[in-house]
Amino acid sequence: MTLTTIILAAGKGTRMRSETPKILHQVAGRPLLEHVYDTSKQLADNRVNIVYGHGAEQVRNRLSHLDAQWVEQVQQLGTGHAVQQAIDYVDDDDTVLILYGDVPLLKLSTIETLIADAGSNALALLTVVLSNPTGYGRIVRDGDNSVLKIVEEKDASPEEKAIQEGNTGIMALNGEQLKKWLNRLQNNNAQNEYYLTDIIEMAVNDGIDIVTSQAETEDEVLGVNNRMQLAHLERVYQMEQANSLMERGGTLRDPARFDIRGKIEHLGTDIEIDVNVILEGSINIGSNVTIGANTLIKNSIIHDNVEILPNCVIENAEVGKASRIGPFARLRPDAKLADNVHVGNFVEIKKSIVEIGSKINHLSYIGDSVIGSGVNVGAGTITCNYDGVNKFKTVIEDGAFIGSNSQLVAPVTIGKNATIGAGSTITKDAPPEKLTLARAKQTTIPTWQRPVKKEK
Ligand code: UD1
Ligand code: CA
Repeated sequence: MTLTTIILAAGKGTRMRSETPKILHQVAGRPLLEHVYDTSKQLADNRVNIVYGHGAEQVRNRLSHLDAQWVEQVQQLGTGHAVQQAIDYVDDDDTVLILYGDVPLLKLSTIETLIADAGSNALALLTVVLSNPTGYGRIVRDGDNSVLKIVEEKDASPEEKAIQEGNTGIMALNGEQLKKWLNRLQNNNAQNEYYLTDIIEMAVNDGIDIVTSQAETEDEVLGVNNRMQLAHLERVYQMEQANSLMERGGTLRDPARFDIRGKIEHLGTDIEIDVNVILEGSINIGSNVTIGANTLIKNSIIHDNVEILPNCVIENAEVGKASRIGPFARLRPDAKLADNVHVGNFVEIKKSIVEIGSKINHLSYIGDSVIGSGVNVGAGTITCNYDGVNKFKTVIEDGAFIGSNSQLVAPVTIGKNATIGAGSTITKDAPPEKLTLARAKQTTIPTWQRPVKKEK
């Protein structure tokens, strides 16, 4: 059996009130459509077709990395018409899975049930029972509880409107049969659309079994039509992520104030995460790590026993074992810290290596640098790495001591165990083991007197 998925994603999404096509709006930093695509790609040998239309150019540009057949539906004439656009990519003996690009939280297990239910000759339909099914197509059943048809809200009689079982729109069925039924679709209904849902009655008339199943939760089949629903699904998604992190042994001070926009590739034991922490991209965290409040960590590796104090921003960086970062520290791309490094408040480190046990505790900018082990960088030290056009490298060798408020004008090397006097502007290499300072000599003018206001 081969599987072909058709994701319907051409609709406008008027109620989002946005210049951005609905399916590009994001949950957890990923477009809605990408969630659906990613889930479907977990199915083996699945060929994915995406029917797109509204905001075509934006959609193609933003999602060009998806491995899918893109099919444009120039005019949106209904869900049946949308599926028709992709029908050339369906083989007769395929099982065809229909998904919606604006239903981001659908689970793999739910889809797998649907595909199993479809087998080789049934039509599997995902339905949802709702206390208020307004807007949904209703599942009409006979006295034996067998599905007879789906009737759209706008075409429904008062009795049909009272049915609480709604159509999610998600289904799986045989390719050859789908083609046959699509060819017979008409648009003589309240919306003058080609309804995919009309194939249900055709299937029943052809003696095909309609097998229904339900998702575990309503949220799983919820589509996004407005920004309230978008925000709701974001919270649902984040709570699932928080629960999964806690199941893996992490402590969250408040799971409602924790966001993941990416994936935790590795998580050690006994991680403690305070409130308002955001983890983005690909994250690796070792054991016994604490992350303070209001911290953003993106695409980074945090090794064992690291303590991150509140209000840090860490991006594309690596923090070695037992290091201490923050509060208010910023590690920018390619900051690579070895073990036992201390980076304190208002310190920014970019594209630099800091070796074992070095300390940069206060108010510094370290860029394009290599800092050896056991170095102490005093408060207010700046590596002047940029002349407005080019970037230059600063090297500080093992054991050096940089006095406070020093400027190191790169390219420059501070030798092993060198000491730089506070307030120096260093423009030439400083030799090892020696004290180097570069600052105006202090003078006192003995004859000077403070001016005094004259009495009137
Ligand atoms: C559809 C179903 C309805 C179901 C509901 C669930 C039909 C006729 N009705 O109704 O039974 O309860 O979904 O939300 O199928 N789309 C296209 N091209 C089109 C029209 C729609 O790609 O021409 C896409 C949309 O982008 C969306 C999906 O199909 O992802 C559903 O479209 P929507 O307009 O929301 O369908 P409903 O009228 O709500
Ligand atoms: Ca809808």
